[in-house]
Amino acid sequence: MENRSLVTIAQHSKEKILYMLEMAKSFEARPNRRLLEGKVVATLFFEPSTRTRLSFETAANRLGARVIGFADPKASSSSKGESLKDTIKMVSNYADIIVMRHYLEGAARYASEVTDVPIVNAGDGANQHPSQTMLDLYSIYKTQGTLENLNIYMVGDLKYGRTVHSLLMAMRHFNPTFHFIAPEELRMPEEYKIYCREHHIPYVEHSDFNEDSIADADILYMTRVQRERFTDLMEYERVKNVYILKAKMLSKCRPNMRILHPLPRVNEISNDVDACPQAYYFQQAQNGLYAREAILCDVLGITLDDINQ
Ligand code: CP
Repeated sequence: MENRSLVTIAQHSKEKILYMLEMAKSFEARPNRRLLEGKVVATLFFEPSTRTRLSFETAANRLGARVIGFADPKASSSSKGESLKDTIKMVSNYADIIVMRHYLEGAARYASEVTDVPIVNAGDGANQHPSQTMLDLYSIYKTQGTLENLNIYMVGDLKYGRTVHSLLMAMRHFNPTFHFIAPEELRMPEEYKIYCREHHIPYVEHSDFNEDSIADADILYMTRVQRERFTDLMEYERVKNVYILKAKMLSKCRPNMRILHPLPRVNEISNDVDACPQAYYFQQAQNGLYAREAILCDVLGITLDDINQ
């Protein structure tokens, strides 16, 4: 049987991404549809989460599925030493979809190789966060009216931020220009810059972060410095507050510019930005519900036609 897991956003063509956005739009118009009646969705979170887990669980509930799982691996038998393989094989006996966040890069792919039940990668270490990317793309599309030819500024922790890695790969279809604003320690990893060059995507690296350096942005994608990924906490202390977006920095921005952030934020967006018309991060998180309803349906082979019937 074909395994329809969502492991990385790179597996999706441009047509598939646009199709998924149509599905999300349909769910935004009508979120409650009992398309997953009788199905069980397992959410296995080996790392903390608020938005991803709760929006997947809400999506499952709104689609009529039941939800099982754990939010804390200490409450599961992995704390007794059970392997990931055995955990996945066990949960596959109970669930029709497994949504998993794990601290190890590649964990979602590995899980998808040991079961026929579709795995949805809800974040694997610093690697990928494809469901976040679907909601980011939906948010970009809604705010810009297009995904094509945009100036995307990524700011903050570009080394460990899995959301920027996934978004970069997805945007390859849409002729973006990237601007990477990061301190030396947190620059975009070489593998993603190679990816840009291979796909003829222009990018510029900056260290300045001020009203002039972001004036050309269509999307300002802020990220949190990921404390949990640092092996040297002194280094974290040095860089944690290096870029803080304040309302006064928005005076020169384009009228269409919108600020995205996968959240949670710590200090990188000042509270005075929340009331600015450019702030879109809370609506972005809401879009996650619709994007994740689309993902849950897609991994079970439910089509846009099925949804719109
Ligand atoms: N954006 C995101 O992944 O948020 P959570 O860690 O709260 O799930």
